[in-house]
Amino acid sequence: MKYKDPNLSVEERVEDLLARMALEEKIAQCMQIYIPPENREEILARIRAVGLGSRILSDEQLAGSVSTRTASIADLNEVQRVAMEESRLGIPILSGTDVIHGQHTIFPIPLAMAAAFDPAAVEEACAMAAAETASMGIHWTFAPMMDIARDPRWGRIIEGFGEDPFLGSKMAAAAVRGFQGELDDKGYIRPGRVLACAKHYIGYGAAEGGRDYNTGEITDHTLRNIYLPPFKAAVKAGVGTVMSAFHDLNGEPASGSRYLLTDILKEELGFKGLVISDWSAVSELINHRVAADEHEAARQAFDAGVDMEMISECYNRHLAGLVQAGVISQERLDDAVRRVLSVKFRLGLFEHPYAGKDGQMEQLLLESHRAASRRLAARSMVLLKNDGLLPLKPDTGRIAVIGPYANERRSLLGSWVNDHLVDQPQTLVEAVRAAFPEAQILTARSGLYDEMLMAAAAADVVVLALGESHARNGEYNCVASIELPAGQQALVDAVAGLGKPVAAVVYTGRPAALTRVVSHVNALLLAWHPGSLGAEATADVLFGAVNPGGKLPVSFPRSEGQIPVHYNHNSTGRFNPRYLDMPVTPLFPFGFGLSYTSFAIDGLDVQPQAVEPGGKVRVTVTVTNTGTREGEEVVQCYVQDCVSRRTRPVRELKGFERLALQPGESRRVTFELGMDELGYYGPGGKWVLEPGDFKVWVGSSSEASLEGRFRVIG
Ligand code: NOJ
Repeated sequence: MKYKDPNLSVEERVEDLLARMALEEKIAQCMQIYIPPENREEILARIRAVGLGSRILSDEQLAGSVSTRTASIADLNEVQRVAMEESRLGIPILSGTDVIHGQHTIFPIPLAMAAAFDPAAVEEACAMAAAETASMGIHWTFAPMMDIARDPRWGRIIEGFGEDPFLGSKMAAAAVRGFQGELDDKGYIRPGRVLACAKHYIGYGAAEGGRDYNTGEITDHTLRNIYLPPFKAAVKAGVGTVMSAFHDLNGEPASGSRYLLTDILKEELGFKGLVISDWSAVSELINHRVAADEHEAARQAFDAGVDMEMISECYNRHLAGLVQAGVISQERLDDAVRRVLSVKFRLGLFEHPYAGKDGQMEQLLLESHRAASRRLAARSMVLLKNDGLLPLKPDTGRIAVIGPYANERRSLLGSWVNDHLVDQPQTLVEAVRAAFPEAQILTARSGLYDEMLMAAAAADVVVLALGESHARNGEYNCVASIELPAGQQALVDAVAGLGKPVAAVVYTGRPAALTRVVSHVNALLLAWHPGSLGAEATADVLFGAVNPGGKLPVSFPRSEGQIPVHYNHNSTGRFNPRYLDMPVTPLFPFGFGLSYTSFAIDGLDVQPQAVEPGGKVRVTVTVTNTGTREGEEVVQCYVQDCVSRRTRPVRELKGFERLALQPGESRRVTFELGMDELGYYGPGGKWVLEPGDFKVWVGSSSEASLEGRFRVIG
């Protein structure tokens, strides 16, 4: 049969197969289901009769909040065998799961990865996660999540790359390249890689009140300029699939919006891959009350552009009738099926439908993956304050390592953890002991604060491990207060009252309001939820084996009363909008992070001073390590379009580079600004580059003050 011939092009194979398919077989390809043990026989019979598009390997609708083994190779292969050998056309099943920040080796949460400001490291982490995933016979991850988030109350802020569209775009593209790898010359995904999924399309992070699944209202201007860029970058990077979000956006649920899915994503951005709904998002059109029943929900979602339905069965039950009645066209159905089949061919599934032997799992604990996880965790940490206490000296004497996260394991991994084989990560106490066997480490055997205070009182230096549990963020886990959880501030106050030098480490998935912590401690290290080797990485930074160089990918508010607070707000008409009771600036701005050394950024040169719309401006600075030890600085380039036809941000990140410099070493760094960096979606949603003056700033955070100018000639 022609479609089985790997020498033909994907397009030829798809057309040949499509021409052989009956209506029910086509519809089956548009379904993704979970196979619970109790329905297994029934589902196998269904696969024999009509085939199946995809199976999801999680049995939990809040998969991010539980840790489960999602698949066994034997089971995957047996179900696949039924599809390959016992269904009429032998179309393989695509298996998918959530590999969000690692599969067996757990990397730092994506928000932390973004803080490393190092797309190559994110690409490497995702490539390693892909290798581990693929070796289990899983073909597809529902990642990367690229929802811009300006509200730290929203628990899923951990899963994305923060508040900035430019940083988010670089990270999204890097993650897609990491998961999918370079396609081969026939357009196939190579072995050891998996299909990626850009999610949650779109504006899901704008949930009102920071409450997951809630309604969002985003103007078209903000949607295109702030929320769309990471998806655009992912499409450009060749992402194979996109997930439509759960929520209602501007009066239309995202999974039922033709405007969002077909007009913008498929037509304007030219996305040729497969759109899958989020979990039961098709049937949830009924809960949104835009569809009266499943029949109408199927019509709306399919017509809008959702090609595959996850979990709910509206398509399975109603698409055939809708197509027969002419309500859904045959062309639309064929379009959806083509998208599904192309992905399967591109994955090489027809040639290699089965997972390898169980023995392959051994490679999953590769030392190189663990080393990369540790490296990225340390590089993602952000030093928020340091009066010179850090790095701790080996001869520090007695070090108390206390606080609710000093002896914690699971939370260090972060929210989305399935299938990991590493039993448990080390605790911070264990990692510090291992790093400094000769030091005297004091801790509390229990979670009792009085014992912690006794250890602190007996120590020369206190390492105070604070933060929030992995169970307090992620999907559906939102909070109204972003203060540290109950009791921790009191502990900080009590420890500070002892008068000992205190280095606080904060393990968190979201920006916390650290206003009262920062004034009570000598040093503050943001460690995020750092993954499998998170404790070791923390020790690396605390003792200076690694000099911290991470920067905030999201603003840290002084309190939740400031939300939303983000650096790229628009210019306003009069005065600076203010509060009477609090500054309007965040506690720590976007792009901020300290080092154990110091850097100078100067020698700004902008060439040419006037540029034609097709040309490029080169912004160059000299970066010097002015301190006494080696270190890494993230040099950041921000731009302002001085006058434009639509209100624009006061400044926008348009370039960054993470540099390693020896003491005294200088390097020239150049940022190139062209149409992509200087244009924006203007009137009518059209991409424009408007002539006129631009300001540019280069520095070490979004508060960079080294300023230049240039002009785009009309
Ligand atoms: C719901 C989540 O919103 C989504 O991100 C995830 O991929 C699916 N569940 C599948 O677990």
